[in-house]
Amino acid sequence: MTDAPPSALLADQSAYTEAVQLALDAAAAYYGDGTSTLDDDAYDRLVRGIQAYEAEHPEQVLPSSPTGKVAGGAVVGDVPHTVPMLSLDNVFSAEKLVDWAASLERRLGRPVTAWSVEPKLDGLAIAARYRDGRLAQLVTRGDGTKGEDVSHAIGTIVGLPARLAEPVTVELRGEVMMTTSQFEAACAKRQAHDGTTFANPRSAAAGTLRAQDRPYVCELTFFGYGALPAPDDASEQAARLRELPHSEVMAWVAGQGVQTTAVTDVGGIVATTLEQVQERIEQIAAKRAELAFGIDGIVIKCDLAADQAQAGFSSRAPRWAIAYKLPATEKITKLLGVEWNVGRSGIIAPRAVLEPVEIDGSTITYATLHNASDIGRRGLMLGDSVVVYKAGDVIPRVEAPVVHLRTGKEEPIPIPQVCPLCGDAIDASQERWRCVRGRACRVIASIGYAAGRDQLDIEGLAEKRIRQMLDAGLIADFADLFFLTREQVLGLERMGETSTDNLLAAIERAKAQPLSRVFCALGVRGTGRAMSRRIAKHFGSMDAIRAADAEAIEAVPGLGSGKAPVVVTELVGLSDLIDKLIRAGVNMTHPNWTPPAAPDAEAKADPDAEASDTSKGPLAGMSVVVTGAMSGALEALTRNQMNELIERAGGRSSSSVSAKTSLLVAGENAGSKRAKAETLGVHIVTPDNFAAQISAFL
Ligand code: IVH
Repeated sequence: MTDAPPSALLADQSAYTEAVQLALDAAAAYYGDGTSTLDDDAYDRLVRGIQAYEAEHPEQVLPSSPTGKVAGGAVVGDVPHTVPMLSLDNVFSAEKLVDWAASLERRLGRPVTAWSVEPKLDGLAIAARYRDGRLAQLVTRGDGTKGEDVSHAIGTIVGLPARLAEPVTVELRGEVMMTTSQFEAACAKRQAHDGTTFANPRSAAAGTLRAQDRPYVCELTFFGYGALPAPDDASEQAARLRELPHSEVMAWVAGQGVQTTAVTDVGGIVATTLEQVQERIEQIAAKRAELAFGIDGIVIKCDLAADQAQAGFSSRAPRWAIAYKLPATEKITKLLGVEWNVGRSGIIAPRAVLEPVEIDGSTITYATLHNASDIGRRGLMLGDSVVVYKAGDVIPRVEAPVVHLRTGKEEPIPIPQVCPLCGDAIDASQERWRCVRGRACRVIASIGYAAGRDQLDIEGLAEKRIRQMLDAGLIADFADLFFLTREQVLGLERMGETSTDNLLAAIERAKAQPLSRVFCALGVRGTGRAMSRRIAKHFGSMDAIRAADAEAIEAVPGLGSGKAPVVVTELVGLSDLIDKLIRAGVNMTHPNWTPPAAPDAEAKADPDAEASDTSKGPLAGMSVVVTGAMSGALEALTRNQMNELIERAGGRSSSSVSAKTSLLVAGENAGSKRAKAETLGVHIVTPDNFAAQISAFL
């Protein structure tokens, strides 16, 4: 598995002093409100760096140093613990686990009889004090000797009953946390209340446990991992609990009606060899992503009370247990940009674009940023180093900027002033911003797209005009454009006779657009202009496209198996719109269509290349790439129109130069594509030469 992250190198005393302060601040934040200024990896690195420096310079060790202290020395609360609540030492690899077990067995002078292996729950340690079977007090770990009274949380913690099955007096120790669904519910409540969310389940649990005057209640979960009779309890029951193996103590705890990890897929087991321990570690690690709660490692304990008693404790942690840490679920990466997406209901949500970072096996490139005010509150800037959190099913989240890593080059995040999709106003009265058009926002964008130059090419249909028509109830989708009457259009504000006639003529012309453009206008997910041309070319008619199942659609060159079912489903959803287009007399066929021959192996191998009839025309059999600015007869053509032209002339259009490219049409300002073509010896022509070559098709 993983090795320990390398430790920070501290060059001198001032670097050491600074590192100690950084670690203290991070520990105070982590054990205080659960926020983090450092991710776990970075904290571990820092503390190991401090340890290394202290080993070399024992005379410089600061009294405030977090090394050797529970909770890094962060102090909270004033309720004394009966028995100190300690930390666990960590290992980060199978080898280090073996080393640790060997040193423990040397200390004992014999092999450990049995190991208990259980998940390390990623929440907050808590002591639940039961008196005569009733839950009397809840205390946080605090500094390990004193904690904070959080008894107000009694009644909100699933798995921690108000009464035990028997009237016993005992202190149960375990972890308070939020499951994924509790976390999501808590975020929704907080969002509705003040527009903010929690950074991650652990900090949500920390904040919730300590919160006393929130107007909303969030549910927590408890899993027990230990039971302690009071040190002065001389009862038989207490004596028995002190002598039972850990695994049997846990079975007793569960029998009292308290939740333990036995109810999960990763409950504790007893192993007698280190091989079995390792096997269980791997099983738990493999299940981590699908668990409904966070774990950050696996705890390995001596199961027998006698082994534990003999091993004893250091000032910080028991010697009879170790935490095998799993890769962090939090990492620091760079915030490269922010995208603003408009959802179906018009909600405008920011999304962080990140420098890709691997978190526990998956590469994270995007993370949610919740809403605009959240960005402001967190003080995020473009170029910031940010803490990103991802665990299990939880969508990756940006938690906070790491302010001390700023370079001064960070820039404010541009906040949109108008809806990024339709350009209308933003309703910012709620924390979650919305386009004032709500659902209609997407309609404007999709009609605008359909009427665009590379689709139906309806000149004179600016977004403003579309909005007017929607507001007047003249259209609800782009097919309705074809049913507009002269009177209706004339009735619109600032529509004179000439512009009305021009617009209606443009709409009429659009009816004759080839199938590829009509299909493209539908905006089927996963099919842009190039793919629409391939689909039209492949099937020849809208009827044939609609009759195709996913398997038939998959036969279109370059259309992967993943996309085919999406295309089929989307087309079903669009059937009313397509029927309306047919009723309007819009062309539904590909010009001069002949069924494709056997699959074109080359086109399949180069999905970027356009399928075309390679047997006719001056460009027959040629793969053509266009770059730079077009001029002369080609000046007004968009790239899409150039590609269409190449295909009409029998060629294949492609966007990248390779050894297979036959011809590069290079205009002014051609850059790297021209250079690459020169290197590869690809034939290069000017736009004028090219126009002359294919003039019959212009
Ligand atoms: S046993 C004497 N078992 O990890 C300390 N701790 O990093 C015995 N934790 O403070 C602790 N899961 O809050 C134990 N299965 C588990 C645990 C566990 C999570 C926490 C606990 C402890 C921290 C140490």
